Amino acid sequence: MKPICLVIGAGAGIGGNVARRFAQEGYHACLCRRSDEAGLTSMVEAIEKENGSASGFLLNAVEDGSIEERVAAIEADIGPIEVVVYNLGAQIGDRALADTSYKAFEMGWRLGTFGLFRTASAVCPAMEARGKGTILVTSATAAVRGNGGQHSHAAAMGGRRMLCQTLNAEFSSKGIHVAHIIIDGAVDAPDTLGKMLGPERFQQLRETRGLEHDGLLLPTEIAETYFYLAQQHRSAWTFEMDMRAFSDKPWWNH
Ligand SMILES: NC(=O)c1ccc[n+]([C@@H]2O[C@H](COP(=O)([O-])OP(=O)(O)OC[C@H]3O[C@@H](n4cnc5c(N)ncnc54)[C@H](OP(=O)(O)O)[C@@H]3O)[C@@H](O)[C@H]2O)c1
Repeated sequence: MKPICLVIGAGAGIGGNVARRFAQEGYHACLCRRSDEAGLTSMVEAIEKENGSASGFLLNAVEDGSIEERVAAIEADIGPIEVVVYNLGAQIGDRALADTSYKAFEMGWRLGTFGLFRTASAVCPAMEARGKGTILVTSATAAVRGNGGQHSHAAAMGGRRMLCQTLNAEFSSKGIHVAHIIIDGAVDAPDTLGKMLGPERFQQLRETRGLEHDGLLLPTEIAETYFYLAQQHRSAWTFEMDMRAFSDKPWWNH
């Protein structure tokens, strides 16, 4: 039976590429995303074309029971989940306090913090019983730095970072590797950054900073690191790391 890598938030950027990378190494990848069925199917087909094995599921992570039911169904019908990648962001764009409704603030928390808590609650008991498992959490600059317009995003991602530390404190000695990965820069991600900017501005950004300039983080390269983290020996686990393009200033320098 193939080990399973479950990705919650699998778009054409980090999530889908991490799923693909694990599938290239013999994992069965389970890709979950909210709404884009055609995008989901095409990512599963791309993995299968490379002789990898994958399943795709539409799932809205903010709906009650959605994550819990999907985890239980995968464990029952496909097999034990060895790696979970929690890849949902909580970025709603810069908004002043007066423009951040209670609802928007709470949505950030639901995606950024509570969704990870629910995921951990769903996967940790089985991982603990098996004495092994890996939880890779994609994070953002906002997890370590509050900034203008980031009320919802920074509170949610900062909470996520503390939750990762707390999960690590409880589960590391039980064989579960938790890693909090700070993506400190813009990613060449059409389904998130691309949609936030719109097609024209995204293409402009790619042409000025991305493509041959290597100034946007490439999801395929990020995926290499995720796979590496999941293979680390338990005598030398990374809990936290950050990544940015060579031409970007790190968060503490600006
Ligand atoms: N993109 C950046 O520039 C950037 C920068 C710093 C950090 N990050 C971090 O990177 C992670 C995202 O990676 P990515 O930007 O490369 O995106 P991605 O993996 O290409 O896509 C993420 C996917 O999450 C799905 N999603 C959103 N809300 C969901 C929900 N409620 N339930 C289920 N799925 C949902 C979306 O699916 P649908 O498209 O089907 O709706 C989207 O395609 C986040 O943790 C974010 O904080 C990104």
